[in-house]
Amino acid sequence: MSDIETPQISRGLEGIYIAESRICKVNGAEGRLYYRGYPIEALVKNSSFEETTFLLLNGKLPTRAELDDITRQLADARDLPQGVVRIISEMSGKAESMDILRTATSALSAYDAETADMSPAANFRKSIRIISRMSSIVATIGRMRAGGSYINPDKALGHVENFMLMLNGKAPDKQALDIMKDMFVIHAEHSSNASTFGTMVAGSTLSDIYSAITAGISVLKGPLHGGADEAALKMMKQIGDPSNTESYIESALAGKQRIMGFGHRVYKAYDPRAKVLKEYLLSLQEHSSEEVRRYTAIALRAEKMMIEKLSASHGIWPNVDFFAGPVYVAAGIPVNLFTPIFAASRSAGWCAHMLEYWKDNRLFRPLEKYTGQIDLEYVPIEKRQ
Ligand code: CMC
Repeated sequence: MSDIETPQISRGLEGIYIAESRICKVNGAEGRLYYRGYPIEALVKNSSFEETTFLLLNGKLPTRAELDDITRQLADARDLPQGVVRIISEMSGKAESMDILRTATSALSAYDAETADMSPAANFRKSIRIISRMSSIVATIGRMRAGGSYINPDKALGHVENFMLMLNGKAPDKQALDIMKDMFVIHAEHSSNASTFGTMVAGSTLSDIYSAITAGISVLKGPLHGGADEAALKMMKQIGDPSNTESYIESALAGKQRIMGFGHRVYKAYDPRAKVLKEYLLSLQEHSSEEVRRYTAIALRAEKMMIEKLSASHGIWPNVDFFAGPVYVAAGIPVNLFTPIFAASRSAGWCAHMLEYWKDNRLFRPLEKYTGQIDLEYVPIEKRQ
């Protein structure tokens, strides 16, 4: 395109397709989500994180032998290098959990002999190690924030059960484990969202997969993306009593504030993940604490009001991050781990996209329309006004 033509600018790349992919379909008009063709509801109900990871990376559900194999590979990779544990320990109490996760994940590259090997087989093996170890990192961040020390992983446990062991130093109860298993599947993938795109942009330079995943974590952190789950729960905390909900939302909207956990660039219908989480929360009611019941009451009142006010006019519905907070609280997860857990789970999707994109890689290099001046005369510093 020549400079005299007027380029079409798509702010935030809205409506722009960046690649073909066989990994994930988001049907935003009808509120449907599929991983490799399988509806999210069926996967949450039936699948494990290990199986979902296999599906995302390989494009098909595993046979029993294949599932056993990926389960063993993920379990074998769990233990963290001592250097990474030291980084987590050093940063604990000084940095936010997402900042620690970003730095510790990046540091994993120093302990991987294959970091610079860009062959598809090495990238697959590194993907398994990253997916496995990011959960160990997140658990260790939580453990150290609570004043504990590194817990050795238990290879005999499933991925999520081991995560809970490394986080709490003891096996989880059934309810917490069931919740977390579903959370890991529900967050594993979501097409070319900002963090997946950030991962792909970094990877498209043929940088290594650790750099790409570190970029993904950086992008996920923000409250307009993955950080919305923490922000939504903090809002519920601020609201305090369910009876304050309507006045809080009313004055936030009047002040042009965004209500975190609502709205989506692609979904203009109810986010199916939010639907699953809402149903989950309702099913927990009598088995949950007073705190969770209070958050649930607030969430339901806020949801009703937001839908009445903004769904018809702006296509705004709850997204995955709205009900996630109370569900995490029901599993005993502290708020500062919500987004890191999202990242640990999403590492499966990020790696799947990277492996797919590298099969036919093309550097991302969009354009911007320059609106400044040109051919200015360089004025020596002593003559500048
Ligand atoms: N609360 C109040 N108003 C909103 C919200 C919200 N959460 N989201 C969008 N709007 C309004 C916005 O003010 C604008 O109104 P108007 O046209 O009158 O100026 C209109 O809706 C369109 O907003 P937009 O910013 O152009 O829409 P977008 O496609 O860029 O926004 C979004 C997508 C997710 C950034 C936005 O909905 C938002 O900020 N939501 C809150 C943060 C959030 O929950 N993020 C998690 C997204 S889902 C999980 C994930 O994939 O990470």
